[in-house]
Amino acid sequence: MLERESLGEFAEVARKLESGFASLPTFQSQLPGIERLAETLNATAERLQDNYPYFHPLYAGQMLKPPHPVARLAYALAMWINPNNHALDGGRATSAMEKEAVAEIAAMYGWKSFLGHLCGGGTMANLEALWVAGQLHPKKKILASEQAHYTHGRISGVLQLPFESVACDARGRMDMHALSKRVESRDVGTVVATLGTTATGSVDSLPDILALREKHEFRLHVDAAYGGYFVLAENLGEEAARAFAQIGEADSVVIDPHKHGLQPYGCGCVLFRDPDVGKLYKHDSPYTYFSSAELHLGEISLECSRPGAAAAALWATQRLLPLKKGGEFARGLERGRQAALALFQKVRADERFVPAFEPELDIVVFAPKAASVSEASALSRKVFETAARHNLHLAVAELPIHFWEANFGTMKRDRGTITCLRSVLMKPEHLDWVDHIWNLLSSAMDEVAGAGH
Ligand SMILES: Cc1ncc(COP(=O)(O)O)c(C=O)c1O
Repeated sequence: MLERESLGEFAEVARKLESGFASLPTFQSQLPGIERLAETLNATAERLQDNYPYFHPLYAGQMLKPPHPVARLAYALAMWINPNNHALDGGRATSAMEKEAVAEIAAMYGWKSFLGHLCGGGTMANLEALWVAGQLHPKKKILASEQAHYTHGRISGVLQLPFESVACDARGRMDMHALSKRVESRDVGTVVATLGTTATGSVDSLPDILALREKHEFRLHVDAAYGGYFVLAENLGEEAARAFAQIGEADSVVIDPHKHGLQPYGCGCVLFRDPDVGKLYKHDSPYTYFSSAELHLGEISLECSRPGAAAAALWATQRLLPLKKGGEFARGLERGRQAALALFQKVRADERFVPAFEPELDIVVFAPKAASVSEASALSRKVFETAARHNLHLAVAELPIHFWEANFGTMKRDRGTITCLRSVLMKPEHLDWVDHIWNLLSSAMDEVAGAGH
């Protein structure tokens, strides 16, 4: 069940890597001995069994999927060198690979000249984007929607920039009326548009935000940590497609290869449209940059040491699966979205459930029907637990009830938020498993309803 076939290739490519260093004299490495190693690894494998099966299609809960085998192996291969992409001295090949891979990501948004690099993840990437924003608009406000990732409020605190949330509409997108009123007072430095919110995959209306920027001249940052690759998908709804088509007009963009880009954790990416922001990073370092006058990635990033292995993995993945519309990688994203639409339709057609709104990407949110929001919330938790006992792993989320306004009917609104079920169908395999997922969900619901009588 765990993909192990690709491991067969590993010894051969490790030999290939080693042959690049054949001119060195051999040396005795200080190893503990193969038996102790095996024993320790067995103990590690045993400990790792205590996990949800994130790699399996029946794991349809949080935003988690396994890295592509090529990413896993390229990462492991690079570990035999352990390059550090802080400076060319620490990671020559992998710094070049990072620059190439990041340029391919930027090209998805139509950017040829830009500044960008990999980093630890979406939080680090957004921290850098808002750090730059704060230097360009000191003391001015950062605005993001109520459904934007909580990291924006927290990062603004770290940077000591004032932060304010903007209300959301009934589909979890930034409310344009609220935003247009808010930007009229001239204290807003930056608006964060989320293209793919964490909880519901909602896509803020970028065309409308861009129109407001024309008038009010704020900086526009797009947080597409989760949604960014959907620019390649050709089965989005009209509004989402229009938003993704305009990402290139933002001032900065964050996208996480470790979410939809098939990478191991520790791989975020921040991009700036204007390469000139590089001067904000200027610093002196007497010890790291001595090998060449070429750009060291550490000169344009806040983090210092970073895994070159992450760049090797991303480079290899994009070589195997180029970031092209209609390509194999894009088809994988489209399959996840199709799976989400299929599950949404099943939930909508069933008397026992009540969905929020049609998914814009590959996340579905819904709740069991009940007499009141409190009862529906309690049922969500029970269905979540029962489904998990039958190997179907969903997630629960706490969301505002106005997302359900169109579908609640006579349900008593006795709470402002509802605990609902949430499913992220982000693996290409999910499409083949929708019926199975639905059958397990349906019998979990029956079991919970039966136990209640
Ligand atoms: C839209 C968005 N922004 C930022 C983040 C934070 O990213 P990370 O967990 O990689 O730090 C997430 C994580 O889910 C996200 O969905």
